[in-house]
Amino acid sequence: VPVQSFICVVFGATGDLTLRKLLPALYYRFRDGQMPGDSMIVGAARSGLDDAAYRARARDALHAHVASTDLQGEVVDSFLAQISYVQVDGTGDTGWPVLKDVLGSAGERVPVFYLATSPELYGPICRNLARHGLAGPDARVVLEKPIGHDLESARDINDRVGEVFSEARTFRIDHYLGKETVQNLLALRFANSIFERLWNSDVIDHVQITVAETVGVEGRGGYYDRSGALRDMVQNHILQLLCLLAMDSPVAMQADAVRDEKLKVLRALRPIEPHDVASVTVRGQYAAGAIGGNPVKGYLSDLGEPESNTETFVALKAQLNSWRWANVPFYLRTGKRLPQKMSEIVIQFRALPFSIFPREAADLQPNRLIIRLQPEEGMRLEMMTKDPGPGGLRLRPTGLDISFEKAFATRYPDAYERLLMDTVRGNATLFMRRDEVEAAWGWVEPIIEAWESRPERPRPYSAGSWGPTAAIALIERDGRTWHEDV
Ligand code: BG6
Repeated sequence: VPVQSFICVVFGATGDLTLRKLLPALYYRFRDGQMPGDSMIVGAARSGLDDAAYRARARDALHAHVASTDLQGEVVDSFLAQISYVQVDGTGDTGWPVLKDVLGSAGERVPVFYLATSPELYGPICRNLARHGLAGPDARVVLEKPIGHDLESARDINDRVGEVFSEARTFRIDHYLGKETVQNLLALRFANSIFERLWNSDVIDHVQITVAETVGVEGRGGYYDRSGALRDMVQNHILQLLCLLAMDSPVAMQADAVRDEKLKVLRALRPIEPHDVASVTVRGQYAAGAIGGNPVKGYLSDLGEPESNTETFVALKAQLNSWRWANVPFYLRTGKRLPQKMSEIVIQFRALPFSIFPREAADLQPNRLIIRLQPEEGMRLEMMTKDPGPGGLRLRPTGLDISFEKAFATRYPDAYERLLMDTVRGNATLFMRRDEVEAAWGWVEPIIEAWESRPERPRPYSAGSWGPTAAIALIERDGRTWHEDV
């Protein structure tokens, strides 16, 4: 789908996110003809670089983060020619007049200001954009997560940004919403009639959401140690997945209609009371171990600190106050330095009320729908079938599989490609509205407070394991087990 010409100013232009994700995403959109010729990318940051030096960094970033088969020399050169750089101090006065000159008159081009900086700078940068006449009626702002550190700081940031940009022009990124397989949840649920009728507590026993990573803190210790897994992954990505799974049908595939339904889910999350925190949450921190046979250090060594109370793993049992989901637990877990990178959703259906088969013929497993978000994207519906052969009726679980890779021989665009183009199109469906972000903080914050008020430290787990054993106990206490497809 073609987009209008745009000017994308990226604050935090020398940072990891810009180099690793945003520039590669823009490169792909350019290569596929979605960046009209008069569009511009302007890197803005504090470092004293000129256009040539920044383009050299951008070139290195593309070589590091784009598949070499997708890098054609002349395409890269033409892409880099559309990039310039301005030294700007987000909080101070330096650089703003130059930025204004470089942008010149936007004309028909859509101005997009992408704030890939620390969230403390969102307010000051927006104020400066307004003071320097850059926040015109067509301009839009894109905010990376995290929006703040807790509910109060999120409100403060939203207020300050809101003084300059209306809600309709504010795009809060949760890159999970841009992942193809996450968007596919909407198709699965609302473009098929078979599942919706089963999507409730009459038929579903429980839901599991796992987002496992093998990476550690990878040089992001400064940010991560002030954040931890609950703030970094659950408050945003995992709760967004939960919303898409649990919400009712929106009245239309339209931004506010979708976000209204997600908000209802967030508001239905049952608060976890301080006295329940110990039984329905587990936090862990990775210790030295091995992944894929390679030894890796523990979190404290990665951080270079003697101690830290920050969790790199969290498991939770969440419940929703709604008729549809009464007594259907949502078990959530995420962690760094787990055995494999794997994000998946498991919908486990209720066990048969009664079995007509003799016990020795069948170890009857409940049906499960397994939605693999990454890698090896696909879906599997696990069902019991008869073992072929003349030896009598023996049953075993088999999968009805869809592999997206095999079904669609196409490259999966990175989440940022879709989301960046949506900001130019002005389509906010896959972005978080202010009230969603604040509702998510409102649920997460009491958990953090309860953890902080308790003397226990996060439980250690060996790198390369599935987290502390307490996370296994969390679900096994309810007579259920985590799905581990290793
Ligand atoms: C980011 C978190 O939002 O998501 C990181 O800050 C995490 O800590 C990353 O590694 C995971 O994203 P993905 O797309 O690799 O699953």
